[in-house]
Amino acid sequence: MKKAVIGLVIFSGLLFGASYTKEDRIRDMNGMANAMNVIQSGFFYNNYETVAAGVDDLTTVVAKMRPPTEELNEKDIMAKFMNQKVQMSNKIVKKINKKALTILQRFKSGDTTQAVQAYTKIMGQCVKCHNEMRNW
Ligand code: HEC
Repeated sequence: MKKAVIGLVIFSGLLFGASYTKEDRIRDMNGMANAMNVIQSGFFYNNYETVAAGVDDLTTVVAKMRPPTEELNEKDIMAKFMNQKVQMSNKIVKKINKKALTILQRFKSGDTTQAVQAYTKIMGQCVKCHNEMRNW
């Protein structure tokens, strides 16, 4: 009996460790917002190290993002459909990473205008998805 309970605790611990929760997503969303702020202040202070640190943060956090396990397990068809609209897809991750790289390259070569444009494109990805939620 005791063994079974311990086994259950360990098992649920493993499950918990493997799952990505809505709270994890909120934490990562805030991480991305913070990274965007860092990039922005790098633009304002014209500081490459700051821009690079922000880009590094952004690409690190975005790589961790995935649809919350609880949403993947959603049974209600309508809710599932709505969830899918705001799930971080590989396509979006790729777009964000690509533009983040453009920011670095352009800023380094002194082309701040193009760097800011790439930043705006990333911002567009954030806002596009968030707008979907407001339609709920
Ligand atoms: C594919 C969809 C999607 C994309 C792209 C996306 N988000 Fe989000 N974002 C969400 C969802 C869903 C929530 C709501 C999470 C919740 O409340 O459970 C959210 C919430 C947030 C929040 C609020 C977190 C809080 O504390 O409540 C911030 C800040 C945020 N996102 C920043 C960003 C930034 C910055 C980007 C772009 C770099 C971005 N998001 C891109 C889906 C997205």
